[in-house]
This record gives sequence, C-alpha cells and structure tokens, in this order.
Amino acid sequence: MTSVTVTINVNGESRTASVAPETTLLRLLRENFNLTGAKLGCDVGDCGACTVIVDGKLVNSCLMLAGQADGRDVLTIEGLATMDRLHPIQKAFEDKGSLQCGFCGPGIIMSAKALLDENPNPSVHEIRDALAGNLCRCTGYTKMIEAIQAIARAGAGTATSGQATAKSA
Ligand code: FES
Ligand code: FES
Repeated sequence: MTSVTVTINVNGESRTASVAPETTLLRLLRENFNLTGAKLGCDVGDCGACTVIVDGKLVNSCLMLAGQADGRDVLTIEGLATMDRLHPIQKAFEDKGSLQCGFCGPGIIMSAKALLDENPNPSVHEIRDALAGNLCRCTGYTKMIEAIQAIARAGAGTATSGQATAKSA
C-alpha cells in the first residue's frame, strides 16, 4: 500500500508517521500520535470540533491532509496546559462553567486562543464572530463569551506560545 511519511512539530515535539495519502491531519493527530483532544465531529468542515493551529493559523484539521502539514508547526489543545496548570483560557472556561459535555471545548478554546493572540481585548461581537465556526449543541455561548471576556480583562490569553490568526481551512 502506498504511504507518505509525515513529520510535524506538534506542541513543540517532532513526530513522524507513515500514513495513507488520504489521511487527514485530524486522523494523524488522533490515531498516530494519540492526541485525541481535537475531535472528529462532522468530518466536513462544519462543526469546528477538530480545530487546531497550524503555523499560527486556525485550521479545521479534518479538511487538511496530513501530508499538507508536513514540516509545519501544529498546536493542539494538549499543547496549552502544563503538567500542573491549565492554560488561562481553560481555567476561565472551568471557572465560568462554560462547557457541559465538553465535546466542542478543544476546538472552541483553540479558536479563543487565536482570537486573543490577535486581538487581546475583543468586543462581544468579535468574540461571537471568532466562535462562528465552532458549533456547541448543549451549552450555548453566553458563558463562553463571559470566559473569554474575563481572560481579556486579565490580559492572560496569550500565556503560551503558538500565536495564531484567523481560520484558513
Ligand atoms: Fe467538524 Fe472538522 S470535524 S469541522
Ligand atoms: Fe457539549 Fe459544547 S459543551 S457540544
């Protein structure tokens, strides 16, 4: 069977795998690298559950082939927290009770990170815009917006590396 060898710098660590050419970045992360934070929701670019950051840009990883990520820097939700401390965005979501089942959470938090990296003091309208590509079916967005506003007020949204900008895929 034909395969391609892909090496990515994921959360600061170089990882390599040989995969079928049609393998998406999402499946590479989940199935080859055991990074299961990014979720497989719709698999067609509609829900945002698979959102990660590639070379500083938000990406729906279900729409990017693993081969397209070769040689690039990928930041996933696993790259935000340290061993003993949540990222400030994660902590704010926890404090505000912003998530219920949590399935959408990794994608939404990555979108929030990209927003705050680019715009440390977003308006509610800008926050809503930034989350427009992330669907949540059980919580609603009010507490997420409150969490992002709290982070912005604290000036803590960019506490980790991986500066990011608007979604590109
Ligand atoms: Fe829904 Fe990727 S899984 S956008
Ligand atoms: Fe359940 Fe968002 S918290 S889908």
